[in-house]
Formats: sequence, structure tokens, C-alpha cells
Amino acid sequence: METALITGASSGIGEAFALELAAKNTNLVLVARSEDKLNQLAQQLQGQFNIRAEVIVQNLTEPEAARTLFDRVERLGLSVDLLINNAGFGDYGAFADRPLDKQIEMIQLNITALVGLTGLFLPEMKQRGSGSIINVSSIAGFQD
Ligand SMILES: NC(=O)c1ccc[n+]([C@@H]2O[C@H](COP(=O)([O-])OP(=O)(O)OC[C@H]3O[C@@H](n4cnc5c(N)ncnc54)[C@H](OP(=O)(O)O)[C@@H]3O)[C@@H](O)[C@H]2O)c1
Repeated sequence: METALITGASSGIGEAFALELAAKNTNLVLVARSEDKLNQLAQQLQGQFNIRAEVIVQNLTEPEAARTLFDRVERLGLSVDLLINNAGFGDYGAFADRPLDKQIEMIQLNITALVGLTGLFLPEMKQRGSGSIINVSSIAGFQD
């Protein structure tokens, strides 16, 4: 059975991926900050389908978040066949008017974590000769 890791699995597009993949008998690693939502989703999917669903609560804007998450997956003894970099958020408006902290957080989540996770999981996939990565996260545009 294949295993998919989904960042931002607690709502929206990430949760939708989790439902679709569970229905196709794919084991899941569900990642986000909202522990209750993730546990509820994992229990629901394990009850409904014949899959294993692991929850990893991780704030992906934290320094070294990608490495921490990768190490936690390794400690669970899991091999990730499909990585879905989905966690992210957007912001709109004139750059000069938007809070700088929020812009930096967005870059850390939408870009730094995505690049870090890709760089950590891709070599294993290449070694195995199989694996896929879907990048959903993208940075929002500004007016100026
Ligand atoms: N929906 C759209 O129209 C649209 C358009 C363009 C791009 N996108 C991109 O598509 C992706 C999913 O969008 P969505 O609409 O499904 O968003 P959403 O419903 O707001 O879900 C975002 C997910 O990311 C997680 N997340 C947010 N901050 C996080 C952090 N610091 N660490 C770990 N997880 C974090 C959230 O969980 P927690 O809050 O529990 O951490 C949640 O599970 C995002 O990357 C978004 O930028 C969406």
C-alpha cells in the first residue's frame, strides 16, 4: 500500500486530497497545526477505509520545519510515495501596505517549507525509482 504525506490536511484542498486518497486505499500522513481537526479526520478515514492515517502536528513556518517533519516521518518507519505540498496562504494588496511579518511567514510556509520537503523526500524517491510530488502552494500576487 502506498503512503501519501499531505501538508495542510486539516481543511480545504488538503482535506479533499486526504478523502480522495483514502478512498483509493492510500495510507496517509496528515500534517498541519490543528491537532484536533487532524485527529478527527484520521479517525474518520481509518474508520471508513482500510488505511493507516498518521497525524503529525507541525507548524511549517518554524525554523528547520521541513527537517523536523522529515525526521518524524522517518521515526514512524514510513516511506512516502506521494508528497503533497499544500499548506499555504495568500495575501493581497499593495506590498507597502501589508504587514512585513506576514509576508515573511508566507514565504517560509509557501516556499521554504515546500523546497525543504521536496529536497528531503525527492532523493529517496529517486533511489527507489518511484514517487510523486504535487505542489499546490503558491505565493499570492501583489498589486505593486
Ligand atoms: N483556494 C484557493 O482558491 C487557492 C488559490 C490559490 C492557491 N491556493 C493554495 O492552495 C493551498 C490550499 O488552499 P486552501 O484554500 O485549501 O487553504 P485552507 O483551507 O486555508 O487550508 C490551508 C491549510 O494549510 C495549513 N496551514 C496553514 N498554515 C500552516 C502552518 N504554518 N503550518 C502548517 N500548516 C499550515 C492549514 O492548517 P492549520 O491552520 O491547521 O495549520 C490548512 O490545513 C494553499 O497553499 C493556498 O495558498 C489556494
